[in-house]
Amino acid sequence: MVQFDTSEQRLAALSTDCLAVGVFEDEGFTENARAADAATRGLLARLKSAGDLPVRGNETLLLPAPAGLKARRLLVVGLGKRAEFRQRGWRRAVQATLAACLKTRSAHLAIAIEQPQADPVDAYYSGRAIADLTGTALYRINDYKTARKPPRAALKRVTVAGVSASARREAQRGLDHGRAISAGQDLLRDLGNLPGNVCTPRYLAQQARELARTNSSLKVRVLDEPAIRRLKMGCLLSVSKGSDEPPRFIELQYRGGARSAKPVVLVGKGVTFDTGGISLKDPAAMDEMKYDMCGAGSVLATLLVVAQLKLRINVVGLIAAVENMPSGRATKPGDIVTSAAGKTVEVLNTDAEGRLILCDALNHARRFEPAALVDIATLTGACVVALGHHHTGVMGNDDELARELVQAGTRATDRGWHLPLIEEHAEQLRSNFADLANVGGRDAGALTAGAFLGRFTSGMKWAHLDIAGTAWTSGAQKGGTGRPVPMLSDFLIHRAGAYKG
Ligand code: BES
Ligand code: MN
Ligand code: ZN
Repeated sequence: MVQFDTSEQRLAALSTDCLAVGVFEDEGFTENARAADAATRGLLARLKSAGDLPVRGNETLLLPAPAGLKARRLLVVGLGKRAEFRQRGWRRAVQATLAACLKTRSAHLAIAIEQPQADPVDAYYSGRAIADLTGTALYRINDYKTARKPPRAALKRVTVAGVSASARREAQRGLDHGRAISAGQDLLRDLGNLPGNVCTPRYLAQQARELARTNSSLKVRVLDEPAIRRLKMGCLLSVSKGSDEPPRFIELQYRGGARSAKPVVLVGKGVTFDTGGISLKDPAAMDEMKYDMCGAGSVLATLLVVAQLKLRINVVGLIAAVENMPSGRATKPGDIVTSAAGKTVEVLNTDAEGRLILCDALNHARRFEPAALVDIATLTGACVVALGHHHTGVMGNDDELARELVQAGTRATDRGWHLPLIEEHAEQLRSNFADLANVGGRDAGALTAGAFLGRFTSGMKWAHLDIAGTAWTSGAQKGGTGRPVPMLSDFLIHRAGAYKG
């Protein structure tokens, strides 16, 4: 794993394998580029007048053995026009820096790309972003290709250079937090990318046990099918019924706060494969339903982050893990099942299985008396239609909690959007035969799913994150994204008072 640190040293004296500075397309150099130019007796100015400097965002130029600098390579990174340089451009420049550096044998990279003056984040978030982007750049898919793997990246250390003495502490804190969050994202990406024949409910339970074994502050309890039956989780069991894979219900507890402090309870949807059941899905892209456990993965990953950062807060993670299959034993449309809360549900569509396992898990959360209850689920295609792939759908019964999550997402560059869930949406779930139906028609599909969950969370401060559009990327770049671990981590870091800003 990469080590992160900061340096307030003069750039010319910085001994590193690769030093990155930014230059604008139009007027002049950044302060750090000017320092590099002075140390190299005008090398950058000469390159600029020859038209040889990279200028556009994400263009780079690698200069080997620059005379006058202690660095073995100088990487010049284009930032675009100064007036248009904002946070997104800065992140892209750091990404371009990492990509260019990873093509070299550099073990030590020093990044001296200043925050945009028009749109800066503080030293803490700047450090967090660098650790986060480094983690993403270094992530390799846990594939099953049998050809020889490319060699591991040479990069071992990243230094944020040109940091003022007063900002160093906060920058280092951001790097440390970012490194832990990045490790959480790696865990989530790995779990999501695993095929459904490997990542089963029992596999998720093993992962939870492993997490508790390697982090002494985490306690785990795994309930098997008979134990789940004793808890009367009839909705959850109605989903796993058609599968030969037995379900698991996982409880993870982290106690870092005061004994009496009520916990934040995170609930994850862990459908390790969603065929749709008897309401079978179309074959196109059905393979992507291996990602239907990313809510569960987010819970495991976020608890890993919380444990690594030793946050002063109590957190409980609950995971409902099942496989949704069609079979002679599977639940059929029209079947009526009884939830742990006692409410009866008419299963009109067996593909709306996420809400069925979550309603029993949310009900179970009640016994922990949550200060806040947050469920995370790849719940609806409708959420992807509504919001696309940039925002996680945020809804619930407490506007303040939803706002807290949206703000955490904005700070963490893992955005969410508050959707208007109101009581009227629950009216779409009326059934002639049971207390409620599990689907409410086509209109506002993300919200009727939320409304279904809302029927099981009364009296608790609850928010629901629909990550169907944000948890993975489709197409040629298919893979897990690690979201919404940054949002959830930021939410808990702030709740724990581990960063105020
Ligand atoms: N896991 C899916 C939601 C999903 C679909 C996530 C596509 C990502 C991409 C969920 O279990 C599901 O099938 N939902 C149905 C609900 C419908 C039957 C009311 C959906 O969205 O089509
Ligand atoms: Mn489904
Ligand atoms: Zn599903």
